[in-house]
Amino acid sequence: MPLVTTREMFKLAYAGGFAVGAFNVNNMEIIQGIVDGCKDDNAPLILQISKGARQYANVKYLRKLIDAALETSGDLPIVMHLDHGDSFELCKACVDDGFTSVMIDASHLPFAENIALTRKVVEYAHARGVTVEAELGKLAGEEEHVKVDERDAVYTNPAQAAEFVGKSGCDSLAVAIGTSHGAYKFSTSEPKLNFDRLAAIQKAIPGVPMVLHGASSVPQDLVAKCVQFGGQMKGAQGVPEAMMHKAATEFGICKINIDTDLRLAMTASIREVFATNPKEFDPRKYLGPARDAIKTVVKRKIQMLNCAGKADAVRAAVKN
Ligand code: G3H
Ligand code: 13P
Ligand code: ZN
Repeated sequence: MPLVTTREMFKLAYAGGFAVGAFNVNNMEIIQGIVDGCKDDNAPLILQISKGARQYANVKYLRKLIDAALETSGDLPIVMHLDHGDSFELCKACVDDGFTSVMIDASHLPFAENIALTRKVVEYAHARGVTVEAELGKLAGEEEHVKVDERDAVYTNPAQAAEFVGKSGCDSLAVAIGTSHGAYKFSTSEPKLNFDRLAAIQKAIPGVPMVLHGASSVPQDLVAKCVQFGGQMKGAQGVPEAMMHKAATEFGICKINIDTDLRLAMTASIREVFATNPKEFDPRKYLGPARDAIKTVVKRKIQMLNCAGKADAVRAAVKN
């Protein structure tokens, strides 16, 4: 089947208490590992491309690789999504390139400017059948040194959510409730997500699909493997899987973004090959195991997000 938008996927996810994995892609092995994992578990998926990935791989190569994934995945519903678009021009270029979903991340701008820029992207994208993710609030850890009143300036403010969604017209909303990007989350405090805030946001915008960025769990077995084979990752920590499961199944979180865990899986695996066989120099001998490691991580995410087996329903909804 051709690429799909997030529309039907999120409707089903919201109603059915599951979230779709949104995985960052940068090269062939990453795409293959993700798609193989989703195929095994019959899960719909979002392949997301950052501005950096667009530049690194050349978006034309990524597009062809995703076309190959569509052809070989046995009819899995796949979204091609722009991750963290930082301007109208970039979002427009992605819509013109055939992306079926874009994120405009204007969360650093004042509220009214965030709405205005998001609205501009929505008007362009919707006219061409493309769905839009926006962001309200700024990602940061739920650090203990952030005072309660300061949190309102950083995390998503439930009192602003309805006005933001109503005026911008976005299809889904990325929220800040304590997650952060990268491998060093919660560096000065216990892992904690603000579920009370998430519940309040959901109540303010019932039925609107929400998105969690910075959602990698930084599996400690992968960190240990990186370190065992020469890496340095002191203090690496992610969002506990149980919290992610709760967010995905109970609060209208329909999309969970994962990049760091894929990087860790790939790096740990490549480090192991280099450390245990220093004479190896055939790229297939280290990129192959790295691809398998990505598949393993992806399958674990699919189970955690309650997304296994959901491809059939999404496909049927898209075709109707
Ligand atoms: O949230 C950012 C993603 O992990 C993408 O990272 O900009 O280095 O490609 P990147
Ligand atoms: P992680 O760094 O936690 O994997 O988050 C990725 C992300 O949010 C991409 O937009
Ligand atoms: Zn992100």
